[in-house]
Amino acid sequence: MARLGFGTAAFPFEASEVAKKAILQAIELGYRHFDTASLYGSEQPLGEAIIEAVSVGLIKSRDDLFITSKLWCSDAHGDRVLPALQRSLQNLKLEYLDLFLIHWPISSKPGAYEFPIKEEDLIPMDFNTVWAGMEECQRLGLTKSIGVSNFSCKKLADILAFAKIPPAVNQVEMNPLCRQKKLREFCNESGILLTAYSPLGAKGTIWGSNKVMENEVLNEIAKAKGKTLAQCSIGGYHGH
Ligand SMILES: NC(=O)c1ccc[n+]([C@@H]2O[C@H](COP(=O)([O-])OP(=O)(O)OC[C@H]3O[C@@H](n4cnc5c(N)ncnc54)[C@H](OP(=O)(O)O)[C@@H]3O)[C@@H](O)[C@H]2O)c1
Repeated sequence: MARLGFGTAAFPFEASEVAKKAILQAIELGYRHFDTASLYGSEQPLGEAIIEAVSVGLIKSRDDLFITSKLWCSDAHGDRVLPALQRSLQNLKLEYLDLFLIHWPISSKPGAYEFPIKEEDLIPMDFNTVWAGMEECQRLGLTKSIGVSNFSCKKLADILAFAKIPPAVNQVEMNPLCRQKKLREFCNESGILLTAYSPLGAKGTIWGSNKVMENEVLNEIAKAKGKTLAQCSIGGYHGH
């Protein structure tokens, strides 16, 4: 997995020509790892960008990329996992994902792709059947690995207790103001790779805040290092 990924979530969640162009430009700049989700509406533009990147010779084949997508809460029901991945692959025009994640540790009423989810539509997840569905996806070769997102230590422990294939990754919010110390230790000990979303605190999106980008100490560090704050926030987690 390339260490730096390019997030493709942009609100409102919809397929757009702008997303496709941004992804193509990211490939041109050297990004090889892309993060999408069935919720984001970005699977389709990502798939189109990949086809174009291959056809103009920016990459040799899809195998040069690491593609992550995610199972939305309304598909987090045992019998819906495999069809949901097949739909994602169809949107992406790909034969396999590199990583398929359970987006959130909660299920919702089947059929709706909405965010935020109405409170009355939320349902506790049956981890056993949903994870069995994820394992089936990997066994069938439709994804190289499987994992979760937004899972606490307790929920990871619940899955690890019965998983035949343990989660490879837990993707959570992580940035200098949200360091996830306990979760990092738990994941290190359990052999689960913790990956960060919103490394800049999600400035400019529908949630999150400017607290990271406007933090005085971080700005001083960036100035002293002759880097941008964004470079420091992301690079800090990679030991650069
Ligand atoms: N698994 C999950 O539940 C989950 C949740 C959230 C996000 N994610 C993933 O993580 C990705 C990134 O997260 P995010 O978009 O929430 O947050 P983020 O990367 O922390 O913040 C994105 C915002 O940062 C600003 N920005 C980006 N590059 C910058 C730079 N070089 N200098 C200054 N500002 C910069 C932009 O603001 P302006 O628009 O104001 O320029 C942009 O809107 C998403 O696209 C998605 O793939 C996953």
